[in-house]
Amino acid sequence: MDAKVSSRADCPDNILDQIKRLEELFTVETEQLKAITKHFVDELNQGLTVEGGDIPMVPTWCMGKPKGDETGTFLAIDMGGTNLRICEINLPEAAGAFEITQSKYRLPEELKSGEANELWDYVAHSIEKFVKQNHDIDELGQLPLGFTFSYPVSQESIDHGVLQRWTKGFNVKGVEGEDVVPQFEAALAKRKLPIKLTALVNDTTGTLIASAYTNPEVQIGCIFGTGCNAAYMDKCGNIPKIAHLNLDPEIPMAINCEWGAFDNQHKVLPRTSYDIIIDKASPRPGQQTFEKMVAGLYLGEIFRLTLVDLHEHPDCLMFKDQAITKLSQPYGLDASFLSKIEVDPFENLDETAELFHSTLDIKPSRHELELIRRLAELIGTRAARLTACGIAAICTKQNWTTAHVGADGSVFTHYPHFKARQAQALKEILDWPANQGKGAGDPIEVVAAEDGSGVGAALIAALTIKRVQDGNVAGIKNVDGVRAAAGIA
Ligand code: BGC
Repeated sequence: MDAKVSSRADCPDNILDQIKRLEELFTVETEQLKAITKHFVDELNQGLTVEGGDIPMVPTWCMGKPKGDETGTFLAIDMGGTNLRICEINLPEAAGAFEITQSKYRLPEELKSGEANELWDYVAHSIEKFVKQNHDIDELGQLPLGFTFSYPVSQESIDHGVLQRWTKGFNVKGVEGEDVVPQFEAALAKRKLPIKLTALVNDTTGTLIASAYTNPEVQIGCIFGTGCNAAYMDKCGNIPKIAHLNLDPEIPMAINCEWGAFDNQHKVLPRTSYDIIIDKASPRPGQQTFEKMVAGLYLGEIFRLTLVDLHEHPDCLMFKDQAITKLSQPYGLDASFLSKIEVDPFENLDETAELFHSTLDIKPSRHELELIRRLAELIGTRAARLTACGIAAICTKQNWTTAHVGADGSVFTHYPHFKARQAQALKEILDWPANQGKGAGDPIEVVAAEDGSGVGAALIAALTIKRVQDGNVAGIKNVDGVRAAAGIA
């Protein structure tokens, strides 16, 4: 499937040697995938124990899938890695249906490493603009809100969560170790917004629930985007760390795995020197080892560091006598740069040449272009294959031989061949027969998700309200608040 280097025969030895070296560095063979998956299963299990492990395995207090009879009007906000999205969602009577109005705001870069109050004020201000555009605030009663906050939070209840640590390059002061909900609510209160946070939701949990709303076969929700993570439905009886709560062991509980933290002990992942540099230079070294090898935020940086290394090689193997000023800019290339290289349809990689020229002021030689293309393929393929280990691990742990996985995120949606490469790796890990591993119709099939951070968050808010109505209030801290938001007496 991947384009082969077309002209190896006349490729200079040094470039050819480098291509071979990169292939060895970035290729993850079947046996390695299997070993990684095995260790992944152990870490997932360990995360559910009282002692815990590196993978947080957060019980989310989202207890059950939607039935299709959820109704009402909800606000949903999604503070992802790149954008702030605000939606109003109406769930009508018809099962599986929804209507959505939304606005998107680019999160200003400086907010990601500023002060907590600036971040929350920006979020509250954006919500205010959105609500005022769509409503007369004075006539609005309370609106329940599902807040998709996609970072590892410890949750003792669905309407609260303590941020364990920032990921995806965020470094806002005064939030780690704190409950994010009072901080957020204080910003809403300053603007007197009639909104009540009903559910604090991870994007993977939202994706799981939104996908299950329209496709009951969905058991796992995944995000392959700026960050990478998964959530799945377990049973309370399988979660030793909440055994002391004496919940009915058969009741389902969505677990936000936070699998980005897989292999923080560096036991199985084939890390390259480039992965190690990325980790050391990141705001949280030692954290999110797996995520830093597979997520969209890092793919361009892995690629860039590799090329800079080849340029700085004592024999200067790439871009000799050319200035690499632009290429030297950390995080100057994102995953879409690799996507463009991978889709270049021309044998002579004309579009890639143009891309390097226009973006980086570099004119690669024909053979350098061959290496560039191969490198993009290798990095994209490694990411897809490693993510398959996570999916296979959850399915193995749960003894699921068939399942649908609802997936979303920029890498899943836009990165060329990602789905096919992931399906192929699942086949290798799980020893499926030759005619499988193609995606559609596979025993474990990764399908495009419904809108998790909009519809998913609204559904989880609706499920929480339903639980309050039914008197099943385990893991809901502010029951009166939920009642008020839903207009329940
Ligand atoms: C976060 C997760 C999130 C994932 C995808 C990771 O960095 O820790 O909470 O689900 O990114 O957005």
